Amino acid sequence: NHFSTKEEDEFFLFALNVVREAGNIVKTAFAKPVGTVYTKASATDFVTETDRAVEELLIGKLSARFPDHKFIGEEGASTGKKYEFTDAPTWIIDPIDGTTNFVHRVPFLGICVGLTIGKQLRAGIVYNPITDELYSAQTGRGAFKNGFQIHASSAKSLKEAVICQSQGIHNIREKGQAWLDLMLENQRKLILAGIHGNRSFGAASINMVYLAEGSIDAYVECGLHSWDMAASVVIVREAGGTVIDPAGAPFDLMSRKVLCAGTPELAKEFSELLKHMDFAPEI
Ligand code: IPD
Ligand code: CA
Ligand code: CA
Ligand code: CA
Repeated sequence: NHFSTKEEDEFFLFALNVVREAGNIVKTAFAKPVGTVYTKASATDFVTETDRAVEELLIGKLSARFPDHKFIGEEGASTGKKYEFTDAPTWIIDPIDGTTNFVHRVPFLGICVGLTIGKQLRAGIVYNPITDELYSAQTGRGAFKNGFQIHASSAKSLKEAVICQSQGIHNIREKGQAWLDLMLENQRKLILAGIHGNRSFGAASINMVYLAEGSIDAYVECGLHSWDMAASVVIVREAGGTVIDPAGAPFDLMSRKVLCAGTPELAKEFSELLKHMDFAPEI
């Protein structure tokens, strides 16, 4: 990475402003009837005009300001765009994480913008414009919510934890009955391990930023994509949280899965309790 701190700050501050602008679009749309809801790969895989408009705005403004930068965006990928993951500064974008919530008017959603340089995560922004919560982090500089520093929880054991085992309904499409059985078995094991509760907010990014501010203690999900995770992973790490592969290996942004916890001890206990299944990597 041959960019100076000053240059990276400029990338980050510009992105923050564009994300706030995108937030106005989502907030305005959320207050009106939802309009046409299109389906993509399956009957529960939604996209709206707002998802598309927000991705267009984010990529349009960022690429005009930084013409050498690369992009990976969910809705572009859905329409068949092929992205390469290179060493160049790359913005990884999910215009609305939590589209099902957006469609059903559940106020948990995040506009997600992550930045990698040399394939390493450098910055992340997750903005929920409905609740006006803006989470952001740059690698090595701490994590913040609306300007105040946030910290992940210090829980070291499942017995003192509220966890999030996200249901990932779309995974049944990919893995069938075997997935459903594994999810239920893991849920049963967690309850027997003595967790305080299992909460899932319907958006990977919201699950992760809530972990980053200590509201939940651990989170696992499989079947995700780089745009669901990139921004939030920086925020969780900078809040002092641990991010690993669910089976215990180092986290890989393109592996389609993640496990986060407030402490390494809890991450280990959680990972060792779960039964695992592999997903084909993204790129
Ligand atoms: C989805 C949400 C959801 C997760 C899915 C994602 P989208 O993102 O993050 O919580 O379970 O895997 O695809 O489609 O609303 O951007
Ligand atoms: Ca989607
Ligand atoms: Ca998403
Ligand atoms: Ca999305």
